[in-house]
Amino acid sequence: MVTFKGVLNADTGKGTISRFIYGHFSEHLGRCIYEGIWVGEDSSIPNTNGIRNDVVKALKQIKIPVLRWPGGCFADEYHWKDGIGPKEGRKRMINTHWGGVVENNHFGTHEFMELCAQLGCEPYINGNVGSGTVQEMSEWVEYLTFGGVSPMAELRVQNGHKEPWSVTYFGVGNENWGCGGNMRPEYYADLYRRYQTYVRNYDGNKIHRIACGPNVDDYNWTEVLMREAGPYMDSLTLHYYTVPNDGWQDKGPATGFDEKAWFATLKKALRMDELITRHSTIMDKYDPQQRVGLIVDEWGTWYDVEPGTTPGFLYQQNTIRDALVAGLTLNIFHKHSARVRMANIAQTVNVLQAVILTEGEKMILTPTYHVFDMYKVHQDAELLELSLDAGSYKLDDSDIPAVTATASRDAEGLIHISFCNLQHHAEARVALDLRGLNLEGAAITGSTLAGNKIDAHNTFEQPDSVVPRPYEGFGLEDGKLTVALPAMSVTTLELAAKA
Ligand code: AHR
Repeated sequence: MVTFKGVLNADTGKGTISRFIYGHFSEHLGRCIYEGIWVGEDSSIPNTNGIRNDVVKALKQIKIPVLRWPGGCFADEYHWKDGIGPKEGRKRMINTHWGGVVENNHFGTHEFMELCAQLGCEPYINGNVGSGTVQEMSEWVEYLTFGGVSPMAELRVQNGHKEPWSVTYFGVGNENWGCGGNMRPEYYADLYRRYQTYVRNYDGNKIHRIACGPNVDDYNWTEVLMREAGPYMDSLTLHYYTVPNDGWQDKGPATGFDEKAWFATLKKALRMDELITRHSTIMDKYDPQQRVGLIVDEWGTWYDVEPGTTPGFLYQQNTIRDALVAGLTLNIFHKHSARVRMANIAQTVNVLQAVILTEGEKMILTPTYHVFDMYKVHQDAELLELSLDAGSYKLDDSDIPAVTATASRDAEGLIHISFCNLQHHAEARVALDLRGLNLEGAAITGSTLAGNKIDAHNTFEQPDSVVPRPYEGFGLEDGKLTVALPAMSVTTLELAAKA
């Protein structure tokens, strides 16, 4: 068997991996907010102020750093004043974008801020440019963050929240090239400049203004936005979903797929590296100091919905394949952490590449969840220089790396190395030359998440089919770390050594 060789320079830091790369996204879509997060105070499902206790506990366990809300496409149809005040008086309406169901607005600004408080995470609120006014956006920020005398501050107090909240991340529109208004970049750039002018910093609350960025490889959008509006933004977004097949009508199933689909999915997920590199190159031209961040605020797999479920609800299962997509994508984000300051996987509960699935009072954790749990050690850690001959995994006339890896050092000096073995059929052996470390008395521990079949996944009947297990397939000899990675696996090692 081939051994993939590499070098880890444990004394060469390459910058901090922002914890916000581990962010999430929750939209008023399908059963993400309603049922998945919000059940209401009167529900028999254990809740605190209407929010599910089990879901909050699970998200705190993975140290969720930031949560984006209320959309997505829903954001550009959302009028925030519909979601405040006594619940019985809130407007009922049709969620035209997602399944045509009734939206009763029971989950609004106060409920979202309460959710973030329970999670201990930062809110990322996405404002409405597509169908909303400048005044509406401006007033939302005033309602949220102004503590003085003003109509919106008084309205907030009347609705039971005396103190202003602290809100840093604010998005000015979503996908304004598509569902957010079908705009041309020149037009949106001008609108962005105008809207963001009235997104004020009140009482020392400093808003990080986020402009709507490109879809996938629309490099012209990035060029125009950076040229026309670069100085007015703190970050620009990027949306990229991994869809196995080439058509949106037949995306491919979430389970019951073959090796061709496995390979195609991972190959498409790996494209994130090229997209970030190319968009960053354009940003570098206008912003060589890298003041403006790139926020990948929608990413993940998108398959056909589960048979028998509402098409507009985007409910899909989640397998070891999704775990690999998560792991390799996080490795890519680490590599680009100088420009990528935040990312938000779509979407937290019951939608697309969810980390949690619920069914009534039952809840399961997906393989993707476990990757976020295993990788949380990299949050705010120092990225380390790691070069690896990643080998090649070939199928038909195409090939992708067999292994991808990343490494970091945390504040306590612990080194964490994560590996993804993308091969569905073969173990991978890696030998890493560890440099800049005193290995005398070093202690290593590890855990691995592997699949026993190509679409291994958790169900409500068998919630623990795919869970991390203690990993001992490593060795340390003459300054070299050897690891034997199971097929289809994500592995994280912790190395406690003197610097
Ligand atoms: O995440 C689902 C949808 O995908 C979002 O609403 C939209 O922004 C994107 O097209």
